[in-house]
Amino acid sequence: MFSQRIATLRPSPIREILSVIDRPGMVSFAGGLPAPEMLPPLTLSAAPTSLQYGPSEGDPELRAVVSEQLRALGIDAPTERVMILSGSQQGIDLVAKLFVDPGTPVAVESPTYLAALQVFRLYGADFTDLSWSAAPAAPLAYVVPTFANPTGRCATDHERDTLARACLDTGTTLFEDDPYRELAYGPCDRAPVTARMRGGSWVYQGSFSKTFAPGLRLGFLAASEDLFSRLVMLKQAVDLHSSTLSQQLVRSALTDPSWSSRLDGLASFYRKRRDAFDAALRRHLGGLAEWETPAGGLFFWLHLTRPVDTRALLATAIDRGVAFMPGEEFFPDNPELGTMRLNFSHADAEDAERGLRVLAQLLRETADAPAPPVTCIMQRTVQGERSRSWGDP
Ligand SMILES: Cc1ncc(COP(=O)(O)O)c(C=O)c1O
Repeated sequence: MFSQRIATLRPSPIREILSVIDRPGMVSFAGGLPAPEMLPPLTLSAAPTSLQYGPSEGDPELRAVVSEQLRALGIDAPTERVMILSGSQQGIDLVAKLFVDPGTPVAVESPTYLAALQVFRLYGADFTDLSWSAAPAAPLAYVVPTFANPTGRCATDHERDTLARACLDTGTTLFEDDPYRELAYGPCDRAPVTARMRGGSWVYQGSFSKTFAPGLRLGFLAASEDLFSRLVMLKQAVDLHSSTLSQQLVRSALTDPSWSSRLDGLASFYRKRRDAFDAALRRHLGGLAEWETPAGGLFFWLHLTRPVDTRALLATAIDRGVAFMPGEEFFPDNPELGTMRLNFSHADAEDAERGLRVLAQLLRETADAPAPPVTCIMQRTVQGERSRSWGDP
């Protein structure tokens, strides 16, 4: 009755457990959610055209502004090759549709963005390891070079150069996903890999979710000439075009003179939140875990000193009012045990303190007792809660 593609489709047990994170009193370090106080005030005065159908490629003025910003980064992205997306998650789906058949090799970092792995898996990708120093052994290489999700890592200038050269030499299509580049709190090489790809095949994408409002579901991509029109046709088949109303809101914000001060304000707000979280981590998890302070983005990536499977800890943590993302979920295969992704942007200082204290206590207890088998814990359901399907931003 159903397509072969969904034969391996399973609800993620993690998603099931995380479906309760909006329960009152819950501290969530799980999603990549912006701080509520950094969401823009919403003033709606929609022109009739904002309620009408629009072009598949997106609002011409918004595309022009994005094009200008991308060209300032050195990317060969004229307005005609910029497309507005319904969230950059859509870009991953379109690129996967364009390249991936069952068994197609896709080079990815390990770990990498969980929801990208889910999409590539759905189309049957066969993952190979992306190394920053060797040629990708795949027709498509997916990377998040700047403040990666989940690790927060920023690739060096040399690594970026090497990857671009390797893609050009081997004819690999580079797919650069860059939703966090504006959230920079310290020095780090951020010049896109794509800017070094003259002549090759590439897709570069970004998002308005972290800098403006994720609920508007808007992102953008630019692509090399050989790919762009195919991506537009694929988008037409999916949703005709992205919300005209959302595009109007983002266009007004982006063309407002206050946009660059909004970005500065975001960076300084999240820098303070990162530093406070770092200090709270040291207070509570020092000796229990190791981490590097991220130079940008929204996450801390922890290596536990005792490498238990953190998937087995999640249900108990949630029972005690704290949610986090088990790091094992971000590995294409062979998960590294004892890893955790903690979002620092959403919880305020008081909640972060409370949540980290609970996590530390839980880790101390598991240091004394063997962790329960993952399968048992993952089969638990959370009773009496509204079940909701969460993506993993
Ligand atoms: C690396 C990466 N790519 C894509 C997305 C999707 O973002 P959105 O669809 O909200 O633009 C996210 C969300 O957190 C992400 O971390």
